[in-house]
Amino acid sequence: MRTLNAAIIGCGAIHQCHVEALRQLPGVALRAVVDTEQNKGLALSAEYHCHFYQDYQEMLSDVSIDVVHICTPHFLHKPMILAALAAGKQVFCEKPVGMNMADVADIQEAEKRADGRLGVCYQNRLNPTSLALHQLLEENALGRLLSINAFLTWSRTPPYYTENPWRGCYATEGGSLLINQAIHTLDLVQWFGGGVTRLKGVVDCTRLTDIIDTEDTAMATLEFSGGARGLFFASNSHTRDAPLQLEIHCEQGELQLRDNTLWRVTEGKRVIIASDETPYSHSKSYWGAGHLQAIRQFYDAVRSGRSEGVTDLHEAAKSLQLVEAIYRSSQCRRWITLPE
Ligand SMILES: NC(=O)c1ccc[n+]([C@@H]2O[C@H](COP(=O)([O-])OP(=O)(O)OC[C@H]3O[C@@H](n4cnc5c(N)ncnc54)[C@H](O)[C@@H]3O)[C@@H](O)[C@H]2O)c1
Repeated sequence: MRTLNAAIIGCGAIHQCHVEALRQLPGVALRAVVDTEQNKGLALSAEYHCHFYQDYQEMLSDVSIDVVHICTPHFLHKPMILAALAAGKQVFCEKPVGMNMADVADIQEAEKRADGRLGVCYQNRLNPTSLALHQLLEENALGRLLSINAFLTWSRTPPYYTENPWRGCYATEGGSLLINQAIHTLDLVQWFGGGVTRLKGVVDCTRLTDIIDTEDTAMATLEFSGGARGLFFASNSHTRDAPLQLEIHCEQGELQLRDNTLWRVTEGKRVIIASDETPYSHSKSYWGAGHLQAIRQFYDAVRSGRSEGVTDLHEAAKSLQLVEAIYRSSQCRRWITLPE
């Protein structure tokens, strides 16, 4: 098996999840890290025994690099994806794939000309609870889906934004709570529900008004393609990062996600279906433990040419489209119909 050489662009909070996953995969080597902060990049390259580049374009001209991981602020995702694809690299990008659907259209054009593939990190789809839930709904195990309620309450304090000023700013983050934290929840909800056709939503800044120019709280009513309804609430104004709560109401019972455990409730009986494992020691519990799995599946796809399990551009665009639609609905106070 030929070794696939990887480079990580952006050595901030999330990059360690990628490093840890690369360490665990056979036939994969971390060859370079890239960061505009020289001291940090040099220290990490020494720790990881790899090259350091301060300029990602320089790294892209290194022909020994096969796969590029993009772990940078959101406004850099599109230019970095385009440059990496044009350089013939395989690209694994953190969510969101871009800042908006205009970015998605540009990336789609670039993909048509590229030899490499693009995968986007939506690791929560690979949680055992998510996979079990999706399968039960696909099998219609509890009859017709009636509604999905999602409740996400996390805590983001002022230093989270002030220490990394790209956050909390439309120009660099593309929003805040919705596009950064709650995008995983929107992705799961649309995936379980079989696609959202219409929504009406509201975003607001409640506690962080002097800190960010974006939203810390959002809610929306959704309509799914099969006729089911959805209620979505998310906020960064809680005092802790509470596990995502989901309630899925079907004709013959309910599925409930609480404390990272999936329960099936039918005829008054509550049975555990699946539980999520604890993430790596250094990663935050609310990121989930799916990075290894998501990165493994991407490398398997690069080797095999198949796409199984990889969140590609088409899939990654679905949650970004919901984010954009909720912002638009909040501005115009109307229902937004989503394009198919
Ligand atoms: N999948 C998840 O659960 C998850 C969790 C956290 C973050 N993320 C995503 O990961 C990405 C990064 O987030 P973060 O919290 O790690 O950010 P961060 O601010 O902690 O780190 C970003 C890093 O990128 C570097 N950087 C900035 N401009 C650069 C450039 N031009 N070239 C090279 N490096 C540059 C910064 O110096 C910094 O080290 C975002 O897309 C975020 O949404 C995903």
